[in-house]
Amino acid sequence: MISVSVDLGGRRYDVAIGTGARRLLSQVLPRAVQQVAVVTQEGIGFDVEPGVPVRRFEVADGERAKSLSSVEELCRGFARAGLARSDAVVAVGGGVVSDVAGFAAAVYLRGVPHVNVATTLLAQVDAAIGGKTGVNLEEGKNLVGAFWQPVAVLCDTDALESLPAREWTSGRGEMAKCAFLGKLLDRPSNHPWSGDEGSWLHELPLEEQIARCVAIKAAAVSVDEREGDRRMLLNYGHTMAHALEGSLMRAGGDCDVRHGEALSVGLMFAALLARRLGRIDDDRVALHRKLLDSFELPTELPPGVSARTLVKFMTRDKKARHDLTLVLDGPDGVEVVPGVPQTDMLGTLVEMGCAP
Ligand code: GLY
Repeated sequence: MISVSVDLGGRRYDVAIGTGARRLLSQVLPRAVQQVAVVTQEGIGFDVEPGVPVRRFEVADGERAKSLSSVEELCRGFARAGLARSDAVVAVGGGVVSDVAGFAAAVYLRGVPHVNVATTLLAQVDAAIGGKTGVNLEEGKNLVGAFWQPVAVLCDTDALESLPAREWTSGRGEMAKCAFLGKLLDRPSNHPWSGDEGSWLHELPLEEQIARCVAIKAAAVSVDEREGDRRMLLNYGHTMAHALEGSLMRAGGDCDVRHGEALSVGLMFAALLARRLGRIDDDRVALHRKLLDSFELPTELPPGVSARTLVKFMTRDKKARHDLTLVLDGPDGVEVVPGVPQTDMLGTLVEMGCAP
């Protein structure tokens, strides 16, 4: 079992990564807890034993579950179950579950403790950690939410055994992002393997791969919980990814792109845009493509999305300050870049084969 701390002073918590991590649940719950509300989804079937009575709640599948009505339904259920402020919410599932359950925990009785038991790779390397909780609006993803840190995160790698292939791909999108943010592109100087940069991560045991990504996230959250500066770097590739998810969701039905897939396309977009702006060269773009390919991730935009629609969604992204602020690669690595011209964004999308 590997443990990584998110150091937030009095709200510090540990992320436990490894086989059987779910069994730590009774130890990480606050002592005063007399019952827990387990929030999960049909079909997750990952049992937890908190050592106190459990009330079980299910949210719907997919991004559409991330709605204010789901939060209302959960809170009403908590109230009917008599959940007290000293009790706890336990989210068992992927990012959708931890986002919705975490937000319900943040607002129910003005805040009750919650634990995330992450059952997907994406949740284990990213979504379950960091305290950003929230839901979508018709107008865009994650537009309503709260910073509400869990009291612990349990990343049980046993849950990944039955993970569908597409969910693995999705988690690898966030892992690829981490590779660009941390020192994960450079092989450690004592590493004997002589393969391509960016690929050595695959050499590590899964537990350790996850732990390295968690450590990158934990470090950023610890120094910048409210996303004023350093934490924004974690949004690398996300502005476009959220725009893509938002526009596909608007186009009807649940959005058929997984977050990690959208993120991968978003990372490619960010690399091409950075080159257009003269921030990086062809080799660095090629490194992005190579890394994303090595993670077997898509780099092409799906058909039928228009450049103008995507830019419209990007300008609405809640991370945009007054103009278009993006996280882009550059000579000093990935950094926050304000004032990115819309024309360059449009041009990059067209370069990627998008209809104007
Ligand atoms: N819950 C995801 C984050 O805080 O980034």
